[in-house]
Amino acid sequence: MFTNKRKLRWLALGAVATGALASAPVPAQEVVKIGLIVPMTGGQASTGKQIDNAVKLYMQQHGDTVAGKKIEVILKDDATLPDNTKRLAQELIVNEKVNIIAGFGITPSAFAAAPLATQAKVPEVVMAAGTSSITEKSPYVVRTSFTLGQSSTIIADWAVKNGIKKVATLTSDYAPGNDALKFFKEHFTAGGGQIVEEVKTPLANPDFAPFLQRMKDAKPDAMFVFVPAGQGGNFMKQYAERGLDKAGIKVIGPGDVTDDDLLKDMGDAAIGTVTAHIYSAAHPSEKNKEFVAAYKKAFHQRPGFMAVGGYDGMHLIYAALQKTGGKADGDSLIAAMKGMAWESPRGPISIDPETRDIIQNVYIRKVEKVDGELYNVEFETFKNVKDPGKTKK
Ligand code: PHB
Repeated sequence: MFTNKRKLRWLALGAVATGALASAPVPAQEVVKIGLIVPMTGGQASTGKQIDNAVKLYMQQHGDTVAGKKIEVILKDDATLPDNTKRLAQELIVNEKVNIIAGFGITPSAFAAAPLATQAKVPEVVMAAGTSSITEKSPYVVRTSFTLGQSSTIIADWAVKNGIKKVATLTSDYAPGNDALKFFKEHFTAGGGQIVEEVKTPLANPDFAPFLQRMKDAKPDAMFVFVPAGQGGNFMKQYAERGLDKAGIKVIGPGDVTDDDLLKDMGDAAIGTVTAHIYSAAHPSEKNKEFVAAYKKAFHQRPGFMAVGGYDGMHLIYAALQKTGGKADGDSLIAAMKGMAWESPRGPISIDPETRDIIQNVYIRKVEKVDGELYNVEFETFKNVKDPGKTKK
């Protein structure tokens, strides 16, 4: 039997020992580091915020240990500038010795990091950017977002089938906008459609108003729009101010323009917009209902498609680590990621083992008011769509 004094001493020692354990640094080999590079400021800040939120939510729900390894996320803001992305990726790889780089809010950022991924054999998990060729820039790139080709081909075919004959296009003047335009045009004109006006808007601080007047004057049946996530609200405001909605010129496109993140505040001009896209907050699965509820509870806003890209990117990393038993070298992780399939809030998805790009459902949706709020309501599903933009080898 301990005397009270001895018992107290033991308790105190125990407390010291536990405290020491809790604060001791975890040995380097037990930690898997993820360098998360996203735009938290600058033009695409809404993308960075959605991804950062989703990564936090995923880790809250699934813990920070996988296959015995502690997961550490190092968040870096590239301010929507690809030169920063490159510098940050370099620092994270060389100084922090990260096992994975992830995020990439815009295509030029994903491009800028790819040679570093190749050189260091570090997986680059692209959670946002959508140009087809990104996955061809390094054998270490894996994508959980989407490609513009996936949705633009499908909305073009839908337009042809639904009697739309003349279209004016407005696309953001950089790689994903050029992909969107190319794939839309190919399918739409092959189906007999005609492009009556074509304008390109700058990625940074676009003012749509002068272009919208040209669109209106061209009197198209509809306008095909690609603007990157975060710009849809401003676009829709100027579209309504110039009276294109009243002139009966409907908006069609990939669903970036009606991102759920902003849709709630777009106003009635957005009603009737038909887009093809990979995610809607209104996607009617149990998995998505739980995801939307948890995201709203944590961040007091609706998740958009960028959030889902981040959430699925984390899932891919966790599942790959489980599969490798915690082995975190680039070659083991990439091998584990190839062919992986799971149920995302957006629906069933997988990683194409040949291209490392995402295969997913594309849904056609119409903006409608549901219980007083605007939503992208899905009404047709194209299953397991691969990126149509891969160059044939
Ligand atoms: C891209 O830069 O690849 C990009 C960004 C935002 C989008 C789509 C594509 O909504």
